[in-house]
Amino acid sequence: MTDNYGREITYMRISVTELCDLRCRYCMPENGICKMPEEFLLSEEEVINAVRAAASLGIRKIRITGGEPLVKKNIVSICKNAAAVPGIEEVCITTNGIKLPQLALPLKEAGVKRINMSLDTLNAEKYAYITRRGTLAQAAEGLRAALRAGFEKIKINTVLVGGFNDDEIRPLAELTMRYPVDIRFIELMPMYDGGEFGPGAYISNERVLEVLPELQKVSPDGSVARLYKLPEAKGNIGLISPVSAHFCAECNRIRLTSDGKLKPCLHSADEISIKGLDEGQMRQQMIKAIQAKPEWHGALDWENRSKSGRNMNQIGG
Ligand code: GTP
Ligand code: 5AD
Ligand code: SF4
Repeated sequence: MTDNYGREITYMRISVTELCDLRCRYCMPENGICKMPEEFLLSEEEVINAVRAAASLGIRKIRITGGEPLVKKNIVSICKNAAAVPGIEEVCITTNGIKLPQLALPLKEAGVKRINMSLDTLNAEKYAYITRRGTLAQAAEGLRAALRAGFEKIKINTVLVGGFNDDEIRPLAELTMRYPVDIRFIELMPMYDGGEFGPGAYISNERVLEVLPELQKVSPDGSVARLYKLPEAKGNIGLISPVSAHFCAECNRIRLTSDGKLKPCLHSADEISIKGLDEGQMRQQMIKAIQAKPEWHGALDWENRSKSGRNMNQIGG
């Protein structure tokens, strides 16, 4: 379906849980969040009905997000059933990778085509600091498991945080020399309560171009990243710049939260509920959500934070 600004909406991001086994400082409070009562959450059947309704409107790609989607008990079954819906061409997952050693293969067998995995640093102490819970060894094991499982594509997501990992741009980028993975540097977005970091932590992606002058331009792959490559590399370097250069004109997505709210835009307060509805009613609500998509999300900086009213773990990015 096309929205009011001529954008074809073909991609739905479904957050299946707000919970996470890590506590990244830009995303989650230290003590986590209160677990939402089960009856407020979409059931697996409702999630799959939502995928069917979305497919009937022209959605072809589903990305499963969280929180951390792999902490959800029935994650493999959700992916398998979503991938089986006629019209859905790819089911992808965004994960922190901690549970990939156990789940990479079952997910691949369930039909998941691509994995995006967070990794903000290559230094074990810094990894423990930024995630508050995880170890770099676990993340590395997760990445190896994903590589072994044979996904079509693996992308690493690195949120650039000034004073934390801006000194690691080159070593992180050089992962693409050794492994067939893409790495995307993401500008820190000022979410609802913004986590621990203030305006001083924001770094524009232009920094990556300064540090890596040898980057060569690569044609876009339909994602929100501008793509480059190190000479002779096995994977691409992507720049996702939601703050310095918003990509709203190319936005092709809607979002669904684990409590059944359709969000027309990551940064708007608008929410349209599908909880408790049948597939036909969900379809009507999706039409409303697509028609409610704003032309752009408005100014986004530390004076004009996201209007979303939710933190990243409650939307799934
Ligand atoms: P691909 O399917 O590989 O293109 O994945 P993706 O980039 O859509 O998904 P991923 O979950 O890996 O998100 C990467 C980063 O982009 C995260 O920080 C998201 O929050 C951010 N992001 C994704 N979609 C949007 C969007 O519509 N607007 C903004 N501002 N940021 C987004
Ligand atoms: N700004 C930018 N990216 C963020 N992520 C989480 N919080 C933020 C933020 N405030 C990233 C995670 C993950 C992806 C889904 O979103 O690192 O890779
Ligand atoms: Fe968990 Fe992802 Fe948020 Fe880190 S960024 S706390 S891994 S949901």
